[in-house]
Amino acid sequence: MRIQGYPDPGQGLRLHLNENTGGCSPRVLEAIQRLKATDVSAYPAYTDLVRACASHFDVDPDWVLLTNGLDEGILMAAVGHISRARIQDAETIIPLPAFDPYPNSTVAAGATAVRIPPGPQFVFPTDAVIAAITPRTRMIFLNTPSNPTGRLIPIPDLCRIAEAAPNAVVLIDEAYIEFGGTTFLPHLGTYPNVLIGRTFSKAYGLAGMRVGVVIGQPQSLDPVRAVTLPFNINAVAMAATLAALDDPDFLPHYAAQVAESRERLYAAFGRLGLEYWESAANFVMVRVGDAVTEVVTALAKHGVHVRDRSKDPATPGCIRVTAGMLDHTNAAIAALETVLSGRNTR
Ligand SMILES: Cc1ncc(COP(=O)(O)O)c(C=O)c1O
Repeated sequence: MRIQGYPDPGQGLRLHLNENTGGCSPRVLEAIQRLKATDVSAYPAYTDLVRACASHFDVDPDWVLLTNGLDEGILMAAVGHISRARIQDAETIIPLPAFDPYPNSTVAAGATAVRIPPGPQFVFPTDAVIAAITPRTRMIFLNTPSNPTGRLIPIPDLCRIAEAAPNAVVLIDEAYIEFGGTTFLPHLGTYPNVLIGRTFSKAYGLAGMRVGVVIGQPQSLDPVRAVTLPFNINAVAMAATLAALDDPDFLPHYAAQVAESRERLYAAFGRLGLEYWESAANFVMVRVGDAVTEVVTALAKHGVHVRDRSKDPATPGCIRVTAGMLDHTNAAIAALETVLSGRNTR
């Protein structure tokens, strides 16, 4: 049977999709329980959530477009700026390693991806990205912190790229920015060609609800708005997101767990002699070597699901482990130590 989505690993700790391992705020569940039959039978009205997001991100409501997860925002940005404009020979620039929806959306929009290899130790290849910009470049996908490396793109580098590509749209994907790093939001007023992508899936624990936001000046946002379907966020997800934004204590508490979990993962990987990359996100990438598939399978048998990144030529021998609640991180470390004890990982 062909089933859409990512394979369900079944029972165990889900540390393979960068989800919030502690679940959402209890206020979210309360808000869902308060929904009335007529909230479900009516098409949703988005004014309250657009206003709440505009206030949260400190931008004008006209700069906010709600999307069905940031995944949809990425696709609609490509469709709005490339397919709808009927650009021939359009190119996108995708620094590697990259989140799959960037190449997928490029193909969906009929464009060609120009892929940029990573710098040493996954330092962001700013000069190579700028050198790849041509009159055919329509979109540049930037992701900070990066999935899967967790590395940040410095703000001055983001500015340089946006300035070097005035005729392209620069999509800055900040899906994990709540866990570390600095948002580009305060600079958005200076750069009409920049769109910022945010999501409620990760820090707010609403991945199952599917709510993302694309933020930008109308010049760049309106073409995306023009191709986005009118009722793309459902009423339950809307109530959930409003409640999540109304719980100021939830995020700092979870972000602190993530920060401590990352430190514990670094320490464990260090003890095990594994190469890893310090991360500003809610996951850490680590190289376990040639036996990566066996390690991933053995971890799953111990009830810990991690992401095998080894099929990507940019991340050979690597896995990505979600850093969430401390108890979950401790369990993951114990399983990894058991699996790797006695195994030569180099
Ligand atoms: C870099 C990046 N961007 C965007 C997303 C999409 O998030 P969502 O569609 O759940 O909002 C993800 C999810 O894994 C991600 O890793």
